[in-house]
Amino acid sequence: MSYAQQIHISSCVCFVQAYAKINLTLDVLGRRTDSYHELATVMQTIDLHDTICLTATDDNRVQMICTTPQLSNDENLAARAAHLVRQRLASTQGVKIELYKRIPVAAGLGGGSSDAAAVLLALQQWWQLQLSPADLLNMATSLGSDVPFFLTGGLALCEGRGERVTPLARYWPLSMRWLLLLKPAISVPTAAVFRSLPASDYTDGMHSRAVSSALNAAGNPHADNLHNGLERSVLERYPQVAQARGDLLKAGAPLVRLSGSGPTLFAPFAELARALRVQQELQAQGYEVYLSRAIHPQPGNVCLF
Ligand code: C5P
Repeated sequence: MSYAQQIHISSCVCFVQAYAKINLTLDVLGRRTDSYHELATVMQTIDLHDTICLTATDDNRVQMICTTPQLSNDENLAARAAHLVRQRLASTQGVKIELYKRIPVAAGLGGGSSDAAAVLLALQQWWQLQLSPADLLNMATSLGSDVPFFLTGGLALCEGRGERVTPLARYWPLSMRWLLLLKPAISVPTAAVFRSLPASDYTDGMHSRAVSSALNAAGNPHADNLHNGLERSVLERYPQVAQARGDLLKAGAPLVRLSGSGPTLFAPFAELARALRVQQELQAQGYEVYLSRAIHPQPGNVCLF
């Protein structure tokens, strides 16, 4: 379907930041007939981010340039988002996308999905489009299950394939003030993790419901409810992830969980000094470790030049 609209471009260049997420919970409820899985997951945006620069061109193309060379192509979700908008608007407006990648790729942190959502929101504002929230949600859902979350970000319960997003109260436990993210040096293919998940790892959504209720009441969720239904299977199939989890705990992390389908693990800390000590110890062991925190980004917060 096309939503032919006038595009108004008052500036040539548009910068936008695309933030990563962690999954505080991930209940897999069961397999659907469309080969996806029914989920309930509580996600939180964190301050680790990619930077995207969009430049108007007069060549009726989408050009994708990424600091990670293997992502400099039309398969990149950011490029697919721009193609989708141009197609929906029947537009010939060219755009060059430069993507400064900082979020680890295929890591369970939603980097590609966040880039796609950031491009949708940036084009909406930069080209002064009249896309309704439903139009944006449809486009986001067609790009990937995590993309709808990033249209608003912050803290939210996501259900269905991930596209039913319910924002939660802006509360974040002090015990999680600082977050260490450890990215083991392997890739974990999301589709394979879901495909091989036994039904015994399915849950009824109770963990996500309990954590949502606790946070909405400004209470601290019980550690048992910080449950990721993919974690048991990922730890079993990928010994490097299990080893990294053990090393994080041994170095003093009070709690360690998998984000999404991994392989990134996150560990919350109340105190910066302790988080730093654990980070330094793990970096000395050769691990890639980021220090981050929960944030509530301004949706569509773009910088036009
Ligand atoms: O939607 P997205 O392309 O990000 O999903 C990647 C893969 O993860 C899907 O192809 C599917 O195998 C799996 N998936 C799933 N159920 C979901 C989300 C993702 O089975 N709700």
